[in-house]
Amino acid sequence: MASKVRFGIVGTGGIANAHATGLAVMSDQAEIVSCCDVDPARAAEFASRWHVGRSFGSVREMLDAGGIDVVSICTPHPQHADPLILAAERGIHGIVEKPLTATLEDADRVLEAQSKYGTLLSSMSQRRWFPAAQRIRHAIDAGKLGDKIVMGESYCEMWRDEAYYRRDAWRGRWDTEGGGVMMNQSPHNIDFLLWYGGPAVEIFGYWANVNHPYVEIEDNAVAVIRFKSGGLGIIKGTVSMNPARRIHGVSVVGSSGATVSLDCWEIPPEERAGATGPTDVGTNDIWTVPGEAGMSDHEARDYGSGELPNFHAYQLRDVIRAIQTGRQPAVTGLDGYRVVAVIQGIYESTRTGKPVALKL
Ligand SMILES: NC(=O)c1ccc[n+]([C@@H]2O[C@H](COP(=O)([O-])OP(=O)(O)OC[C@H]3O[C@@H](n4cnc5c(N)ncnc54)[C@H](O)[C@@H]3O)[C@@H](O)[C@H]2O)c1
Repeated sequence: MASKVRFGIVGTGGIANAHATGLAVMSDQAEIVSCCDVDPARAAEFASRWHVGRSFGSVREMLDAGGIDVVSICTPHPQHADPLILAAERGIHGIVEKPLTATLEDADRVLEAQSKYGTLLSSMSQRRWFPAAQRIRHAIDAGKLGDKIVMGESYCEMWRDEAYYRRDAWRGRWDTEGGGVMMNQSPHNIDFLLWYGGPAVEIFGYWANVNHPYVEIEDNAVAVIRFKSGGLGIIKGTVSMNPARRIHGVSVVGSSGATVSLDCWEIPPEERAGATGPTDVGTNDIWTVPGEAGMSDHEARDYGSGELPNFHAYQLRDVIRAIQTGRQPAVTGLDGYRVVAVIQGIYESTRTGKPVALKL
């Protein structure tokens, strides 16, 4: 491998800029050497903005041109699996935007390719690097909540208007988005619930579209899950809350009785003037570990302007180190798979009226 980890960006729309922003501060260890988009003009414009040497009109062309160690997949969810598999076939690692894929069949294909070709795969869950999120992980690992999580709740509480769904042609449709508030907005908070509570073995849920008649997909969903540990959990997601409260969150109750929460929100645009750090932050509103205090919004904002420019950068740095040392990334492909299984479990149980068993 070359001295720097060489990235190829697949899909040069909105979120690709978060990858480029993160990688720009690690220029001693990594560089974006290529990018591609089905809209070649968009790829060329991205290449010019981020000083990327080569831009292409398809992922196959970009991969066949060579010189790439890892791809960042920044396409709409139904277009995550094929580029990841094409890359794995060429021995190229992958970091993929959330959700890992839009269907379980695609998730199976991706994990199979990763295992067959021995490539590394990381599913984007950058909010795990919020200091408040790490603090919960460390408290669980240190046994401060007891020996297991007995109860968990995760939520996504947002507002999406018609203009949001009209912005890109792929949004709002089952075939091109794969789902609504669960598939697009909730992967972060579902990932938090599984990261803290452990894998789930069964799910039952309902989805509905109540007040976004101009889209097909769900704007509200609820579910109950059983963890492998015997604990229980609730998942809730809505894009009907206007104004939004906190965008993502999770609370977990440990077997000791101690309860902690992670509440994530975005600093409003009018309060961002002069801010150089990330604009999304997380705090611990609930923290009943004996002798310890929660975290104020003010503290969370201070943490938000940490050493790297955004939280994507923390996960990208982890992936770079994993590639350099041959270890597993902090967030794996299996982590992403489990989130897709939960989301598809909600859709399936609404269809059949029955609970769905979750594998893996
Ligand atoms: N981690 C986060 O917090 C976060 C935030 C926003 C979006 N995302 C995820 O990022 C992904 C993209 O979202 P976005 O908002 O950037 O969308 P976008 O529409 O702004 O950009 C997607 C780009 O992919 C291109 N594209 C589509 N199919 C392609 C293909 N087969 N090959 C190459 N390019 C292709 C499109 O032309 C477009 O330029 C989604 O999966 C979304 O869930 C993650």
